[in-house]
Amino acid sequence: MSSIPRNQWYVAAYSSEIGQDLFSRTICGEPILFWRTRSGQVTAVPDRCVHRRFPLSQAPSRLVDDQVVCGYHGFTYGADGKCVFVPGQSRIPRTARLLPYPLVEQDSFVWVFIGDAAKADVSSIPRAPYLASPAYTTVAGMEPLQARFSLLVDNLLDLSHETYLHGGYIGTPEVAETPITTEVDDDAGIVYVSRHMDDAECPPFYAKSTGLQGRISRWQDIEYTPPCLYKLHSRIAPVGSVPNPDGSDPDAFHVEVVYAITPETEHSTHDFWSVARDFALGDEEVSKFLAENNRTVVLQDVEALNVLEGVVSAEPAGYQELSINIDTGGLAARRLLQRQLAQQPTSAAIS
Ligand code: FES
Ligand SMILES: [Fe+2]
Repeated sequence: MSSIPRNQWYVAAYSSEIGQDLFSRTICGEPILFWRTRSGQVTAVPDRCVHRRFPLSQAPSRLVDDQVVCGYHGFTYGADGKCVFVPGQSRIPRTARLLPYPLVEQDSFVWVFIGDAAKADVSSIPRAPYLASPAYTTVAGMEPLQARFSLLVDNLLDLSHETYLHGGYIGTPEVAETPITTEVDDDAGIVYVSRHMDDAECPPFYAKSTGLQGRISRWQDIEYTPPCLYKLHSRIAPVGSVPNPDGSDPDAFHVEVVYAITPETEHSTHDFWSVARDFALGDEEVSKFLAENNRTVVLQDVEALNVLEGVVSAEPAGYQELSINIDTGGLAARRLLQRQLAQQPTSAAIS
């Protein structure tokens, strides 16, 4: 029974990862082949030849003039997935076709729709405009996670773990001590979790990047649109500073931490992370520091969740975990994910 919602958009890659060569990545259990045509369009088709299933990303398969040639017997496909050549006969079977995935490039991401292509609604893709905005400088990466995606959702919806798992980087005592507020917009399908720390220690991650010393006002406002896009609006400011009534906020530093949580399989996940800031734009030192530090933090989570996957996989069915106040965001996210699963022809449970 699958725990991955279908008929949903997922981030498959950063736009920068796809060039004019063959690129393969498994999304929600489906191996997908990507390449960028000479006119700049990204193509996404199943990474499996219709003939004898040879992976089209696998050498000696190759790309020739925007067409992919299967390395096994030479079936050749255009960017629209249609087969244009088969060996030994002039008639090309009508069914010799790779069905393209609905695809959108937006906000530095390549999004693909997994499920019934007729249900793909481009307007439902959540946005993260900072990632491609000149008003921000962004560092980004992707770490493979050997754990089910719901464990990463749990992890990101409850940042109290920063105090323990990420001490010395982004964790300080106040994160775990400060209560959260959780709200769910059922119509839009979004979970909001907020933690506003008005007099908190400044962790090294922000002290070194902003230059602020001592105590700070630190706000964490999470916005999660299941299944894939998670945004953490982080506001760092001198104690006592609040945004102006018109929304301007000149004394504060803003960091938009964006995760795309994309299942690779039932038990592994692509953990895309980006950190966009509205200060020290173009400062290479700050970029290097934030990239290295955030990657370290992500790897701390990856290590913990890999262990957790082993524990969860081995436990007997029906094991009851215990939830407390800090888990309200994660529980709300599970409820929305369950609703997405229930909307599918074959429903399944989040474990
Ligand atoms: S498997 Fe691709 S041409 Fe035969
Ligand atoms: Fe973490």
